[in-house]
Amino acid sequence: MNKRYLLTSALPYANGFIHLGHVAGAYLPADIYARYLRLRGERVLYVCGSDEHGVAITIKAEQEGITPKENIDRYHTDNATAFAGLGMSFDVYGRTSADEHHQVAQEWFLEFHKQNILIEKEEDQFYDEDAQMFLPDRYVEGICPNCNYDRARGDQCDNCGAYYNQLELKNPISLVSKKTPVVKKTTHWYYPLGAFQEKLEAYIESHAGDWKDNVLQQSRSWLKQGLGDRAITRDLSWGVNVPLPHAKGKVLYVWFDAVLGYISATKIWAQERGTPDAWKEWWLTNQDDTTTDYYAFIGKDNIVFHTLMFPSMLMARGGYVVPANVPANEFLNLEGQKFSKSRNWSIDLRDALQDFPNHVDSLRYAMAMNFPETRDSDFTWKDFQARNNNELAAILGNYVNRTATFLAKSFDNAVPVLPERFAKLDDAWKLLVEDFARDTTLTAEQAVERYSATHLRYFTHNDIAVIASVFFGAIEVQVNYNKFRFRDALTSTMNIARSANKYFNDSAPWKSLKADPDECAKTMYICAQLLPMLATVFAPITPTVAKNIFAFVGLPEHSVGTSQHGVAGVNYFATLALPHLAQSAPLGTATILFTKIEDEDIEAQIAKLGDKGQPIQPETPTAKTEQAPKESSAPEGVMDIITIDDFMKVKLRTALVLSAERVPKSDKLLRLTVQTEGGERNIFAGIAKYYTPEEMVGKMVVIVWNLAPRKMMGSESQGMVLAVNAPDGTLSLVTPEKSGMPAGGEVR
Ligand code: 2FM
Ligand code: ZN
Repeated sequence: MNKRYLLTSALPYANGFIHLGHVAGAYLPADIYARYLRLRGERVLYVCGSDEHGVAITIKAEQEGITPKENIDRYHTDNATAFAGLGMSFDVYGRTSADEHHQVAQEWFLEFHKQNILIEKEEDQFYDEDAQMFLPDRYVEGICPNCNYDRARGDQCDNCGAYYNQLELKNPISLVSKKTPVVKKTTHWYYPLGAFQEKLEAYIESHAGDWKDNVLQQSRSWLKQGLGDRAITRDLSWGVNVPLPHAKGKVLYVWFDAVLGYISATKIWAQERGTPDAWKEWWLTNQDDTTTDYYAFIGKDNIVFHTLMFPSMLMARGGYVVPANVPANEFLNLEGQKFSKSRNWSIDLRDALQDFPNHVDSLRYAMAMNFPETRDSDFTWKDFQARNNNELAAILGNYVNRTATFLAKSFDNAVPVLPERFAKLDDAWKLLVEDFARDTTLTAEQAVERYSATHLRYFTHNDIAVIASVFFGAIEVQVNYNKFRFRDALTSTMNIARSANKYFNDSAPWKSLKADPDECAKTMYICAQLLPMLATVFAPITPTVAKNIFAFVGLPEHSVGTSQHGVAGVNYFATLALPHLAQSAPLGTATILFTKIEDEDIEAQIAKLGDKGQPIQPETPTAKTEQAPKESSAPEGVMDIITIDDFMKVKLRTALVLSAERVPKSDKLLRLTVQTEGGERNIFAGIAKYYTPEEMVGKMVVIVWNLAPRKMMGSESQGMVLAVNAPDGTLSLVTPEKSGMPAGGEVR
């Protein structure tokens, strides 16, 4: 059966600038994947756009004194521009304020209404008498019925994660008038998600073997709790109007219309191409002999909408494809902390592009190397610098550069002409690759090993090794991409560049140039052929660099960098390890692919982060965008915030280590006797892997002085020693910067 691939990335709210955390979650993985599939010649349609409804957009507009439309226009354009700057290869970037989208969303609602699927219910809701409006969840705040957090939102507590009916909030306050709302009846339409319980269970379990654990777990946990009716309308003026006569002033709930944005954007794409029905090939089943694999790329906060809600809607409509995979990423942190715009702990994509205009590919690479695929991960500026300087420049850039330089100097800046004794090299190369293809389960090393005892007429063992690295490396790259293991795919990709460098080193053409010019010409012929191979395999990750390499060797750029609009292309992987350049083909002017990123540029970025002496403000609920309901985790910036009073409760003091010893049967603990305010104390510290007892004696450390004593290893630990936990897991003690500080001194 033929296949086509429909890819979507979660439609970002047009309510703020895209930051690198978003990029690593739902966007860059999908773009790399789209480019990878195109490189294989697959039919791909990659759809995204702006999510332009929801309460957060109206609140932000109100706060800024602009209309919601002005709000979304600005961010839609800015985000689309930033995405383009990063090289995102969407086939279409739609927006949910488009007429076409409103029509699609209304049509879906009406169809469900006609089928009597929807349940109309009159229910109590908070009403602001001053503003004369019902208060959707984010317009009301109060005390959490679960944990008493005093700034809980209408539907969910940011502190404890509880999810409740807004009427359960204690001391509710309208965010519009700041007054206490009254309770009034209002009618809403509910979607009976519970009616799909069994179907959805079967759907999720049918993917038990191929979906990511986080996606399965979250979906199963929702199913276990039991699915219920969900209101899909709101009392609001901004959004898609509910298309019923008695529903004035009501709009569709943003999540109901947002997921349909994928379909409406595809319709817009089809119309713009003059083939209005073409969207059906992608979304409807049984259109032809080709099946559609639909992959919905999202961040983890969107999981249940894409594994339960949207699939149930597609099932209810019938004849639609449902996601074949929902490769949700976890969250990316920044320099060890959650992204938070209000704490200025964030990097907007547009700023990163502006500050590093010549390192866009490096940004893609560094981010992809840190994708939060299985757990939350961290982006640091130093890592970005290291990935650029020590990997891209030092390995890929270096290989291209040394090859180009050598060819320019010693081979007239052209692909070397093979000397007579190697005239049949290309044929031998082809046979070698065919031989490799006989058993693709081998590693490159195993395949090379089989040739170790054979004397070959054309190839040295170094030649064989590098061709094997490309051939088997490219298979590894594909296997990893197919499993959405981007980090591994990138590592496999970079390993191919490593082996190219190794080949150059091991073959030492600078020596053979005089000693055996024929051998040198052959080596450099192979080196030249490696250039388009590297360009191809790097194309999904570093498209601009790939393009530059293709230009240098005079080959047309693969179409992977551009949208092919669903049309099948050439499978470049199929011939990746074969020579593509003709002898004596002229080469272009080599440019430096990756310039070094200097320390000061990195330091300047790091210095931009943080509060700049301002007291840290908790993220205001109103500034946040509409989130998927969460079961327990709290969103950025809220859980972490404590008041100065909270902090003052913790008494930190210096303590002088008088003696230290290892604790029998523990490889982690040291038992310390310290001198501090109030006398000597016994403290167990988990630092034995990093500090010997001998080096501890005489150190001035910082302890939590008023920590309740705890029983440990048969005695009592009376405090806790502070240490910095480095990203690699090592520990470093916190000590006063100046010597001569007294033991027992207050630390604050
Ligand atoms: O979380 C968000 O940014 C949402 N705007 C994602 C919507 S995904 C889809 F439904 F459009
Ligand atoms: Zn709570």
